[in-house]
Amino acid sequence: AQIPVITIDGPTASGKGTLAAGVAQALGYHTLDSGSLYRVTALAARRAQVAADDEAGLAAVARGLHLQFEGTNVILDGVDVTERLRDEAVGAMASQISVWPQVRAALFDLQCGFRQLPGLVADGRDMGTVIFPQAGLKVFLTATPAARAERRHKQLISKGIPASLDSLRADLEARDARDKNRSTAPLKPAQDALLLDNSLLGIEASVQQVIAWWNARL
Ligand code: C5P
Repeated sequence: AQIPVITIDGPTASGKGTLAAGVAQALGYHTLDSGSLYRVTALAARRAQVAADDEAGLAAVARGLHLQFEGTNVILDGVDVTERLRDEAVGAMASQISVWPQVRAALFDLQCGFRQLPGLVADGRDMGTVIFPQAGLKVFLTATPAARAERRHKQLISKGIPASLDSLRADLEARDARDKNRSTAPLKPAQDALLLDNSLLGIEASVQQVIAWWNARL
């Protein structure tokens, strides 16, 4: 039998990571935060001074990454960069470099390798459409731009990082547009995905919904 996979795709700040972690914990599954791979590629490229429009150079950086994963922490060249990866600047560069097909191809095998027993919950933009098209359950998570900007704002403020709600909303709408309109692996629901709008739903209720869908499929 195939190793079970649940995919959770959706736009920036829709709560994919939190939902994926909750579902994985409830089921005892592994997680793949695929956005962190685009982010760590962006960080490594910046350090190597490879430009965001140098597709072949970026793909070489992606193929040459020395990564380790410790729980949800990402170790690059022996240094824990988990916090650095959350920087808005790193996220913005990740969004720019992820438009390149060669970069996406370079990260393909790495992502497939996360599929390990007893199962995987993978979150991103193309988990259900490109990386794990055979997944047993595909969720497409949405929330209004206002709800997402509000969440990101709270997160930053709670970490003591000053942020403007308006500019966060403008940023995430720009990133949504880029993710949806790129020609390779655009952000869109898989044709067999179930839609979950969590604008008004708490994390616990969202996890319960996904678990209920999963149990209905078993
Ligand atoms: O989800 P996160 O904000 O960490 O992702 C950072 C960027 O990486 C996104 O804006 C998106 O452009 C890109 N990404 C992607 N495909 C994925 C995950 C992330 O293109 N599966």
